[in-house]
Amino acid sequence: MPALEKGLVTTNQPVGELLYEMEIIAPKIARQAQPGQFVHVRPASTYDPLLRRPLSLYDVNHQLGSITLLYKVVGRGTALLSQVKSREQVDIMGPLGRGFTLLAGRQKALLVGGGVGTAPLIYLARVLQEQGHYIKAAYGAASAQEAAVFARKFNELGVEAWPATMDGSLGYKGTVVGLLQNEPHLAKADRIYCCGPEKMMEAVTAFARRNHVKGEVSLEEAMACGVGACLGCARKLNPQDNEYVKVCKDGPVFDMDLL
Ligand SMILES: Cc1cc2nc3c(=O)[nH]c(=O)nc-3n(C[C@H](O)[C@H](O)[C@H](O)COP(=O)(O)OP(=O)(O)OC[C@H]3O[C@@H](n4cnc5c(N)ncnc54)[C@H](O)[C@@H]3O)c2cc1C
Ligand code: FES
Repeated sequence: MPALEKGLVTTNQPVGELLYEMEIIAPKIARQAQPGQFVHVRPASTYDPLLRRPLSLYDVNHQLGSITLLYKVVGRGTALLSQVKSREQVDIMGPLGRGFTLLAGRQKALLVGGGVGTAPLIYLARVLQEQGHYIKAAYGAASAQEAAVFARKFNELGVEAWPATMDGSLGYKGTVVGLLQNEPHLAKADRIYCCGPEKMMEAVTAFARRNHVKGEVSLEEAMACGVGACLGCARKLNPQDNEYVKVCKDGPVFDMDLL
């Protein structure tokens, strides 16, 4: 059951250009949080803007009862969120949506992220590591500066991580899709988990199919209610589908086979 909490912000600090990391004490949400799920955050203490903003669970500390979000300032809501100070409260609802399917036994997983879409793969990496799976990550960013926050987190978790940067300042020069084509051994996995821009996820889905690996993607859609009630996030997974899915409730994580 999703919870509504007034979470206590312990940190909200810049960790890159327009990138902020916010840790919030929210024990009811932390207790239930699964990798790939998201929270719906009210960006200000007033009702302007009216709508909450969906943000993925970037990390969870069950002992502290805290969740961490990593967000990019792209508009009014995230700009307001970046002004919240530590010891202030934020109104959050969650955890919401269907998260990533976890693995049984001891398996190999490849995590593929693009831009701020790498955020939910950090908590996934933590949980898969704790469960004893073998993980590699490939992630793309504009520059070493944008990649730094993920490089640090993957390093902290002890995950073998392969960066790609558009300006070549860290790792492979180009997109993460180019990196995968350049390093075909990364396809030796039992499952691929992917989150990032839609075109990139399409290319990673094609890569997974070519290599006969099953996988999941986490989709993004503008959201209003976040709980399946308003149809604001309804979309087709394929242009030829007759059925619509609600990204907030049926997803945001979907099996690559459905795409
Ligand atoms: C399930 C889910 C998880 C997400 N997790 C994260 C996360 O962990 N970190 C993070 O930084 N962002 C994440 N997002 C995107 C985030 O919700 C939006 O960036 C945010 O709502 C923008 O709010 P705003 O008021 O700042 O911008 P707005 O003023 O609403 O929009 C500014 C610009 O951003 C675009 N935009 C708005 N919402 C989205 C969206 N969902 N996807 C792509 N572009 C959008 C708008 O078209 C516009 O161009 C997630 C979105 C979803 C659906
Ligand atoms: S946002 Fe309302 S149904 Fe998904």
